[in-house]
Amino acid sequence: MPNQTAQSITITRPDDFHLHVRDGDAMRSVLPLTARQFGRAIIMPNLPIPVTTVALATAYRERILAALPEAVQFEPLMTVYLTDHTSVDEVWKAAGSGYVHAMKLYPSGATTHSAAGVTDLKHCYKVLEAMQENGMPLSLHGEVTDPEVDIFDKEAVFIDRVLLPLRRDFPELRIVFEHLSTKVAVDYVNSADEFIAATITPQHLLFNRNAIFQGGIRPHYYCLPILKTEEDRQALVKAATSQNKRFFAGTDSAPHPKENKEQASGSGGCFTGLHAMELYTTVFEKENALDSLEAFTSFNGADFYKLPRNKTKVILKKEPWEIPATLPLGSSVVVPLAYKEKLDWKLV
Ligand code: NCD
Ligand code: ZN
Repeated sequence: MPNQTAQSITITRPDDFHLHVRDGDAMRSVLPLTARQFGRAIIMPNLPIPVTTVALATAYRERILAALPEAVQFEPLMTVYLTDHTSVDEVWKAAGSGYVHAMKLYPSGATTHSAAGVTDLKHCYKVLEAMQENGMPLSLHGEVTDPEVDIFDKEAVFIDRVLLPLRRDFPELRIVFEHLSTKVAVDYVNSADEFIAATITPQHLLFNRNAIFQGGIRPHYYCLPILKTEEDRQALVKAATSQNKRFFAGTDSAPHPKENKEQASGSGGCFTGLHAMELYTTVFEKENALDSLEAFTSFNGADFYKLPRNKTKVILKKEPWEIPATLPLGSSVVVPLAYKEKLDWKLV
């Protein structure tokens, strides 16, 4: 239970169970921000050359550790990117590594750098069997890529076409349904058993699809899965604040250079590396649910991933500040989610 007053809350140091830190100079820009907010993060493997093996994950982890500012305590929880050709051996190597905590399923073509992803889960059945056997979680981008399916229905259709058959064939495979965006998905996770959990982002809790079009098209509110309706948003808020152990924080902070988003074919992704905890806190306060914040950001995810809970604490204070218009991102800049808006809370 957080020590809660109107002016300040103290909670166990949170973790981010879905994060993109990129690589090279961009990584050096964003990593210190996340490390200030979170103790650990599940690092997504969708680099331009995807992290498809434990060897690549090991090298990526070393680059991340080397990019951390000195004396900063932050643990990258690595993932391996599944392809049609991932070998069973890779699953056992991942399980034995001690630092690979999930295998990531990107349906091929679903999102940024997903071209090498899985075209049909049938290609992965041996791998999934091994994952089920050794308890390795499957982290999944839950959207179909069928161009005939309406963009707002891709998650719901994924449940019917992919998730239900997958769970029928692998009932004890541990699954994290990433960046939940619809009421249908919330209802599904609520009704399912303890083998499936879900992450929820700040953007899907704070905004509905109107935000993308308010006063003109706003590319910095475009992410995948795309923001949905107000009814969906409310269902997500209810799930996050419900104290159901199978919902937890995963920011999906996904930095893209400003110019890559502000163009004819802009990239999907919202950047919350600076202020994810303040954004989550804003949602929980509005819902009168600050008591449930710690479970969502600091306990449920660690418990599902079978990691020890963090030992140290963080403090959030009532202190108004304005989200900047841009932040450095390598040789460019990134526009943070809700840029130029005011926040009431500040992580100190
Ligand atoms: C992510 C990215 O840019 O890497 N984009 C996004 O819109 N969320 C990829 C992803 O998680 O889909
Ligand atoms: Zn993501």
